[in-house]
This record gives sequence, C-alpha cells and structure tokens, in this order.
Amino acid sequence: MPLGYNARVDLITGSPTRKIDAVRERLAREGRDVILLSTGQPGFLPPRGLRERLASLLLDDGLKRLYSYTPTPGYGDVREAVAEDLRLLGGPSVSPDQVVLTAGGQEAMFAALSAILEPGDEVVLMDPTYFGYKPIVEYLGGGVRWVRAPMEAGFQPAEEELKEAVSGGRVKAMVVVSPDNPTGRLISWGTARLLADLAVDRGLWIVYDEAYKTLVFEGEHVYMYKLAPDNTISVNTFSKDPGFPGWRLGYVYGPEWIIGKVRMVSEELVYCPPSFAQIAVLEYLRDRRLRLEHLESSRLFLRTRMEAMASALEELLPEARFARPGGSMFIAADLGHYLARAGLDSEGLAVRLLEEKSVAVVPGAYFGPSGDSLLRLSFATETPERIREGVRRIAEALQAG
Ligand SMILES: Cc1ncc(COP(=O)(O)O)c(C=O)c1O
Repeated sequence: MPLGYNARVDLITGSPTRKIDAVRERLAREGRDVILLSTGQPGFLPPRGLRERLASLLLDDGLKRLYSYTPTPGYGDVREAVAEDLRLLGGPSVSPDQVVLTAGGQEAMFAALSAILEPGDEVVLMDPTYFGYKPIVEYLGGGVRWVRAPMEAGFQPAEEELKEAVSGGRVKAMVVVSPDNPTGRLISWGTARLLADLAVDRGLWIVYDEAYKTLVFEGEHVYMYKLAPDNTISVNTFSKDPGFPGWRLGYVYGPEWIIGKVRMVSEELVYCPPSFAQIAVLEYLRDRRLRLEHLESSRLFLRTRMEAMASALEELLPEARFARPGGSMFIAADLGHYLARAGLDSEGLAVRLLEEKSVAVVPGAYFGPSGDSLLRLSFATETPERIREGVRRIAEALQAG
C-alpha cells in the first residue's frame, strides 16, 4: 500500500536564500570567494559589552535557568523588558501578557498565522513582499490575494486596489511588513490609516512584520498596533537587531486573547523559546546605553553600505530603477531594461551571477508576481568596497549577455 502524506507540504517551496546558501557553500569548497548580496544576516556582531557579560553568565553556577526549559511564552522578566523596550522606542504600551517570545521571527509568523487562519481563508499580501509568508499561508490551507505596491507609488498600495482585494471572498488577514523586505520602504501614514480603517470596518487581522523596525535610516516607523490595537498582531525578531539570527529569538504582541492562542501553537511547535537567547536579550534591553549605542552603530553600519550600493547602482547600472530604502538591509533594483537586452529573467541572471561571477543575489520572482525584473540586493554583510565590486560584476554579467 502506498503511504500517504500531507500534500500541502509541497506548497512549501523553500526559502531562496537557503537554496543560494547551498550553492554558495559548494562554491566556497571549490575555493571561490563569493560576494554576498543575498543574505539578511547582519554583518555586525552583537555589542561586545553584551558578549562579555554573557561570557561571565555562562560560568555562573547559580544561573540554572540559563539551561532550563522556560515558560512557553518566555520568561516573565524578559517579556516585561520587551514591553518596556517597545514603549521606550516610541511603540505602544502593551502588558507582558500581550507578548509571546518565539524561536525567531519565522516561528513568530508561523504561530501567528496558525492562530488565525482556517483552510479556505484568504490573505492579502503586497506585491512585492517578503517570500516567507505565502508558503505558510498555503501550507495552512489558505489562499493569497496580491495587491500591487509598485515602485512608482513608493511601494505603497493603491487605496482602490486594497479595497477591492479585501472585499468578497474569504479574506481574513492582511500581512504587511515595514520596513519592507525586499524594497526597504516604510509604510506611509496614509497607508497605515487605510489598513487600520479597512481592518476595523471589515473585521480583518493585520499581521504586521516589524523585523526591521529599529533599522530605519530615513523616515519614521509606524506602529500599526497603535492605530488598530484590536486587529493587529505584530511579529518581531532579534535576528537583525541586535544580530544573533542563529540564537533564534523573536516575539509576537497583540490583543491578549489572540496572543493566548499564539502561545498554544508555540507550545506545540517549540515548547519554549531558547533560554540563552532570552537571557541575552534581557541583558541587552535592560542596559539602555548599550542598547541605544548599538542601534546607532548598526544604523550607521547599514546606512554606509546602503549609500555605497546606491551610488554603485547609479554609476555602473544607470538604467536600473530603484528607490533608496528608508530602512531594512535591502535594495530592490529593477533591471528590466538590461534583462530584456540580455534575454534573461531575474532567476537566470541570479544563476549566472553566482556560477560565473561569484556574486550571490536573490531573484525578484520570489517576492511576488511583479518581481520578475527585480533583484533583491542585500547591503547587510559586505564592506562598501565589496558591495561596489558586486554591483560592478552584475553590470559586467549583463553586458556579457
Ligand atoms: C521581513 C522578515 N520577517 C521575518 C524574518 C524571519 O526572521 P528570523 O530570521 O528571526 O526567523 C525575516 C528574515 O529574514 C525577514 O526579513
């Protein structure tokens, strides 16, 4: 008898960055030095003062909880510190009971969507948007409705299109990320107001991904929860700030009743978030001076690299269209003119870049139906010089087409 399985697993297409990492590792074994413009992993380490403190905590025999199971939603004092940090950053006032710590932003999103979606429900996604949402929605039996957020409109969705997308069908939620991955745009106050009004009027969830909320260089981060507190579930991570993606810690905040549901899903998924990462975050958030200095230096680190990438694009690929990001770690560059001349799509270009030019990028098609002519270029990791060299090789690859 053939054995059955859940065919919805096949809707999990796999993260493009994981696929690129696999090729990159093979190239590294062959001795190739790949310029990494693909990853959302920050090139800076968590602050040295924090790491020194953690080193001494590791040797503290009294700190048993560093090695224990933790409560499902995370330690109470860590949730308190997270709630206090949100308030100090200019975000909403939430109680620690409205916070669940998770094993990274990925688990946070999975648990949040699992808590609200039923098979047959639909979810509105911006086009383009982070590639992590669609596979989760589809795995949970949901469907996606795309709403264009085009570069000409500053990557903001048009009111009419948004209204049309949420009417009819079985739309239950809108997933929005700001600052955005892949474009780095911040949602405007106008867009935020529109999303909030639609959510409240039509009884929809806004699942709001704030992974890059502290990594803003231009403009102001909008806290959706402040505009629609009953309808917003916010998803966060400590992978980007302070920069320990491998330690897997994130959090969800929102209305207490739904956070209770997220917590039950999280209990089944991971039982509890990692203890050592919680201790690290507690130390980090409680030392305000260290926290603010690190944020300042991380923004400077990213901004310098963003400027290097933007100048290199302007100079070396003058027909590329892009908007300077207000935050995050990425520029989404539209290379449509070049691709048409070279007879390539963005996936073909990405393969060529990796195999022939040792430059890793993420093709735009992963970010939505409109992404075919885009490349997502990360400025998170490499030095400004290597970023420029990466862009130079992209230009070379396109001319060679
Ligand atoms: C927008 C966005 N949300 C969520 C995540 C996932 O976060 P984590 O790495 O903590 O799982 C990422 C990671 O790249 C991201 O860019």
